[in-house]
Amino acid sequence: MTAELQQAIDGGVAMHATAGAVAPRWEQDPILSVENLIMRFGGLVAVKSLSFDVGRGDITALIGPNGAGKTTVFNCLTGFYKPTEGRIIMRHGSGLQGELVQQVTDSGKRFGTDGENSIFLLERMADQEIAQKAKVARTFQNIRLFGGMTVLENLLVAQHNPLMIASGFSLAGVFGLPSYHRAEEAAIDKAVYWLERTNLIDRADDPAADLPYGAQRRLEIARSMCTDPLLLCLDEPAAGLNPRESAELNALLKFIRDEHGTSVLLIEHDMGVVMEISDHIIVLDYGLKISDGDSQSVRSDPKVIAAYLGVEEEEEIDVPEVLEGVLEKVGEIEAKEEREMTSAPDHRGTREKSAKRSISRSGKGGKA
Ligand SMILES: Nc1ncnc2c1ncn2[C@@H]1O[C@H](COP(=O)(O)OP(=O)(O)OP(=O)(O)O)[C@@H](O)[C@H]1O
Ligand SMILES: [Mg+2]
Repeated sequence: MTAELQQAIDGGVAMHATAGAVAPRWEQDPILSVENLIMRFGGLVAVKSLSFDVGRGDITALIGPNGAGKTTVFNCLTGFYKPTEGRIIMRHGSGLQGELVQQVTDSGKRFGTDGENSIFLLERMADQEIAQKAKVARTFQNIRLFGGMTVLENLLVAQHNPLMIASGFSLAGVFGLPSYHRAEEAAIDKAVYWLERTNLIDRADDPAADLPYGAQRRLEIARSMCTDPLLLCLDEPAAGLNPRESAELNALLKFIRDEHGTSVLLIEHDMGVVMEISDHIIVLDYGLKISDGDSQSVRSDPKVIAAYLGVEEEEEIDVPEVLEGVLEKVGEIEAKEEREMTSAPDHRGTREKSAKRSISRSGKGGKA
């Protein structure tokens, strides 16, 4: 990296620090705080002491090149992996709740309440408990639906827990208790509500596997919303969607944020989706956070540009329009470097060559 690019990076960081006279929501009222998270797989450190906050009621995007560690972070905070180190705090109730967080941490318990607010230390909890008690729901990079069940059945299965509670966990309850029948009706109402919102009501009785890809992605979101999450984590929801479906996804996520107050944490490669709907963007590269801020500051952060554009042949990159301004800046710096190199022919450019790491407008095929 040249001194000039480094200077630009330092300048960018300083600008972020001075611009924030009023602390952003994710600092004042974080629903989720990830603190010094480390995840090792044998010799590979996929996440390296990562810290970030997710604002209550925000759409927060976690972005970064392939293999940056995004899905691993999701797996840690939804209980699929036990983190090697770190603390993950989920808060029910506003503010930082520092005293309660400290009390629960010191007590060795998994969660605690002061009567008004509750906090959950997700790194100590199992996946089921995180979904049911901490109210964190997720979708997967690879769609995971019950393909043989109908669309409606998929949404009812998601509400298995309240139904079982209403049954008193007994067969007699399932057949006899009025509370079970009320809960069953409520579950169907909720399913129908989300089928309407996700434009799937006409397919309610079809097997989930028969739906087109984009509709299956919406069904996954509907299924998650049926569990009434406070935090919805979506792993590449726009992957494989066409532009119309992407626009519908944007509208759905804004509806979930604005009408239900659900906080959304989103992994996404589709920069059209990310830049349009995100209140806050966190950028990972090689398991480290390299940028954190609103879309404007992240978009013009030279570290982000360098992470995404560390390629040899620019024609191989499908660059979204939203990064065009960013590219111009890189172009200016590179043009200047080239002029300097021409005037000093013995000096080769020192720009690091890194593996091709691409971003694309339409996302990419899902993987585990
Ligand atoms: N279960 C695992 N065992 C070993 N290594 C893993 C495991 N899960 C992830 N990794 C490695 O951790 C690193 C981060 O992977 P991860 O899937 O979190 O990246 P990602 O940012 O989600 O990438 P993508 O955008 O391609 O989905 C990769 O090097 C990956 O090979
Ligand atoms: Mg991933």
